[in-house]
Amino acid sequence: MELFFSDKKPVGRSYKEQRLKQKAKVLWMTGLSGSGKTTIGLALEKELYKRGFLVMLLDGDLVRTGINNNLKFSVEDRKENIRRIAEVSKLFVNCGVVTINCFISPTNEIRAMAKNLIGKDDFLEVFISAPIEICETRDVKGLYAKARKGEIPEFTGISSPFDIPPDPDLVLKTDQMSVEESVQCALEFFLPKITLQE
Ligand code: ADX
Repeated sequence: MELFFSDKKPVGRSYKEQRLKQKAKVLWMTGLSGSGKTTIGLALEKELYKRGFLVMLLDGDLVRTGINNNLKFSVEDRKENIRRIAEVSKLFVNCGVVTINCFISPTNEIRAMAKNLIGKDDFLEVFISAPIEICETRDVKGLYAKARKGEIPEFTGISSPFDIPPDPDLVLKTDQMSVEESVQCALEFFLPKITLQE
């Protein structure tokens, strides 16, 4: 491939994608706390790594202890949380890196903003679906119990809204599938989209 570089611009995304032998996309996982976003994200990242892909996993709990550690869970703060994540994802994508994003991203408005910022061609929305009763039974972090007692205000699904995504690119029903089945399903969906045609 012949190289055409501009003195005034960074090396283009397509050169970086060629170097990494992948197409960069954002796999955006939305769903309630405890629906399985992080579990699936972690397993999927490893499967992709084994196949030679370079992936950045962005996750609510981690991002909120770092770049977004000044944000809480009001509607405004959640919007700002997702706005920053979308901007960060765009930086990774422009560097040729695939990102897997695990954020509740609770409303249609918030998800539309993320899609808009990242660009519709690079944004793949996956709804990690499980009824709230199931998420609450799992209660991996003990947060639902606290939210029911009123100890956590504005808790998604209890005292703060979650809109069911009307038109996701993929739905994974984690109350009906094992983690392995969900990861397999996500892989089959995602692999063709990030594979570079030589
Ligand atoms: S988002 O709504 O802004 O997209 P994000 O995915 O970053 O949320 O963070 C969600 C995580 O924060 C949850 O998995 C949970 O561990 C924790 N958390 C703490 N307080 C709340 C709350 N009020 N609502 C939802 N999640 C909360």
